[in-house]
Amino acid sequence: MTSLIRGWPASSVLRTKREGMSRLGAAVHVITTAGPGGKAGATATAVCSVSDAPPMLLVCLNRGSQTNPVVVENGVFCVNTLGDGGAEIADIFAGRTGVAGGERFASGDWLTLSTGSPVLASAVIAFDCRIVEVRSVGSHNVFFGAVETVRLGPSGPALVYHDRAYKRV
Ligand SMILES: Cc1cc2nc3c(=O)[nH]c(=O)nc-3n(C[C@H](O)[C@H](O)[C@H](O)COP(=O)(O)O)c2cc1C
Repeated sequence: MTSLIRGWPASSVLRTKREGMSRLGAAVHVITTAGPGGKAGATATAVCSVSDAPPMLLVCLNRGSQTNPVVVENGVFCVNTLGDGGAEIADIFAGRTGVAGGERFASGDWLTLSTGSPVLASAVIAFDCRIVEVRSVGSHNVFFGAVETVRLGPSGPALVYHDRAYKRV
C-alpha cells in the first residue's frame, strides 16, 4: 500500500485526491490567533472534533502559510465557523482579495474570549482553544486545541464549501 507519509504517491493520486476532496462538502471556518507572535487568520475547512471529555478539536494548517508560525508562537487559536453570509470573509482570509496579515481583520466585527484570539461576532460558533499538541504531518501542522470557551453566535444557515464553491445549508 502506498504511504502518504513515507513517500510521495504517484502524481495521478495527488490529483485525484484533490479532485476527491472537492466533492466532499465541508463547513468553512476562519482560524484566528493573537498574542506575542502577532495577529493572523486563515480560512480552513480542515477542522475536526477530537474529544468531548476533555473538549478538544483539531485544525490542519499548511506550514507554508503565513498564519501557521503565528499560531505556533501564540499557542492559541479560535475556530470561527461561518454562517451563510460569510463568503466575503472566507475569501479575505483565504488570501483571495490580496489582503494579508492583521489587515484582514478590517472586515467584520471582532471580540475576544479567554485566549485573546479574535472572535468573529457573526460566526455561528466560535471555539476558543489553547494548543496542547502539534504534529507535523506531510505539508501541514495538525494543531490539537483544548476548547476553553465556546460562543454560540447567531443561529441560521451555515456556509459549506463544495465543488469549489460556497453553498448554504
Ligand atoms: C474554502 C477554503 C478552505 C481552506 N482550507 C484550508 C485548510 O483547511 N488548511 C489550510 O492550511 N489552508 C486552507 N485553505 C487555504 C488558506 O485559506 C490560504 O492558503 C490562506 O491564504 C492562508 O493565508 P496565509 O498564508 O496568510 O496564512 C483554504 C482555502 C479555502 C478557500
